[in-house]
Amino acid sequence: METINNKLFLGGISVEELTEKYSSPLYVYEEDKIIGQYNKLKNAIIYPKTRIYYAAKANTNIEILKVLNKEGCGIDAVSPEEIYISKKAGFDSSNILFTGNNASEEDFKYCIENDVLVNIGSLEQIELYGKLNPNSKISIRINPDVGAGHHDHCITGGPNSKFGVYFDKIDKIKEVIEKYNLTVVGIHEHIGSGILDTSKFLLAMDVLLKVAKSFDNLEFIDFGGGIGVPYRPGEKQLDIEEFGKAISDKFNDFCSSYGKELYLCLEPGRYIVAEAGFLLAKVVNKKSTPNHVFVGINTGFNHLIRPAMYGSYHHVLNASNMDTREEEKLVVAGNVCESGDVFTQNEDGIEDRMMPKTKVGDVLAICNAGAYGFSMASNYNSRRLPAEVIVSKGEAKIIRERQSLEDLL
Ligand code: LLP
Repeated sequence: METINNKLFLGGISVEELTEKYSSPLYVYEEDKIIGQYNKLKNAIIYPKTRIYYAAKANTNIEILKVLNKEGCGIDAVSPEEIYISKKAGFDSSNILFTGNNASEEDFKYCIENDVLVNIGSLEQIELYGKLNPNSKISIRINPDVGAGHHDHCITGGPNSKFGVYFDKIDKIKEVIEKYNLTVVGIHEHIGSGILDTSKFLLAMDVLLKVAKSFDNLEFIDFGGGIGVPYRPGEKQLDIEEFGKAISDKFNDFCSSYGKELYLCLEPGRYIVAEAGFLLAKVVNKKSTPNHVFVGINTGFNHLIRPAMYGSYHHVLNASNMDTREEEKLVVAGNVCESGDVFTQNEDGIEDRMMPKTKVGDVLAICNAGAYGFSMASNYNSRRLPAEVIVSKGEAKIIRERQSLEDLL
C-alpha cells in the first residue's frame, strides 16, 4: 500500500484503476504482504522443526491457498469443504489438519477417505471417531482453562468455551483411546483470536506442555492461531521476534525433558492475510442527520461483517483523496437495510471519524479486510458477492468473479 499524488495504490496499481476495471465493491489482496507475513512468522520461530498450518477459514480463496502452498505452508481446515478446496489448491493430505467441532459422522468419514489427520476436541467425538477408524492416529484438542481474544465471541478457551477436552480429563482420554487402540500423535489448543498481549498465549502453552507429558507417542504439539494484528493507526504491533523466541525456548526445554524433538505447530489465519486485504467501495450518497454526516457506500455488512458483529475497528481510507490537510467528521454506512450496517464502529458502536474531504464518486478502501472478510460474507439482501483480485508488482489478477444474478436463483 502506498500513496502517490494523494491517491491510494495497492500492489503498485491505483485503486481507482482497479475499481474501474473490475467494478465495485471489490476485494483486493496484496500478494507480497501475504508472503511477507508468512515468512516473518516462520523466521521468528527459531526452533527448527516448525510447521505453520494456515487457518483457511480466514480466507479460503484458492489462489491465496496456492500462494501459501508454494511457500511451504500447511492447512488448518475446519470443514470437509476446506479440505476439498485445499486439496484442489495442491496441498497434500499430510499437510492438512482437520479441527472440526461438533463434527458429524460424515465429516469424519470425509477425513478418513482423504487421509487427513483429525484433531478432536470432545470425548464423545473421540469415541465416534474410534468406532469409525479404530487403530488409527489422532490429535486431541485440549481446553487449557485459559482463553483470550478481541471479543467474547472469539475466546475459545476456558470454562465458557465449547471447544476442546478440558485439560484435567487426561484419564478419560486414555480410557477412550485404549478402547479403540488410537495413537495420540498430536496435542492441540487454540485459545482465541486477535491476541496482541502474548502472556495468556504463553500461559496456555505451559498448560498444554504439562498435558503433553502424559502422552508418549507425540509427533507434534499445536498451539493454535490467534496472533493479532493492529487495526487502528498507531496501534502497537506484536513483537513477533520476541514471541517467536519465547515459544521456541519453551518448546526446546519441553523437548529436552520429553526426550524427542517434536514438531512445533501454529495455526495463524489473521496474522497472514488480514493486512493484505482491502474492501473497495464507491461513495454513492452523502447526507446529514442532527448527529452525523453519513457517507453511503455500495457495499454493506453482507460483505464485511466484522464491524457490525464484533464492533471491530476497521480503518477506512479515501483512496481518491488521501490528503489529510482538510478533514471532516464522517460516519461510513453500507447499503444493507439495517441501522447496524456501519463500517466506522468500535466496541461502543457507531463512531464519527476524521477523514479527508469525501464526495459522491470517491472510492473508499476498508483496511484489514483480508481475514474474515470475504470468508464471512453472505448474500443478505440478495446482494451479489463481490469479485476478488490479487495484486503484485503492478499486475492484477482476478481470482473470483463477482456473482451473477443467476447465482442468486
Ligand atoms: N485454529 C483454530 C482451531 C481456530 O478456530 C482459529 C480461528 C484459528 C486457528 C485461527 O485464528 P486466527 O489466527 O485467525 O486468529 N471471525 C472472527 C475470528 C474467528 C476465529 C475463529 N477461529 C473475526 O473476524 O475476528
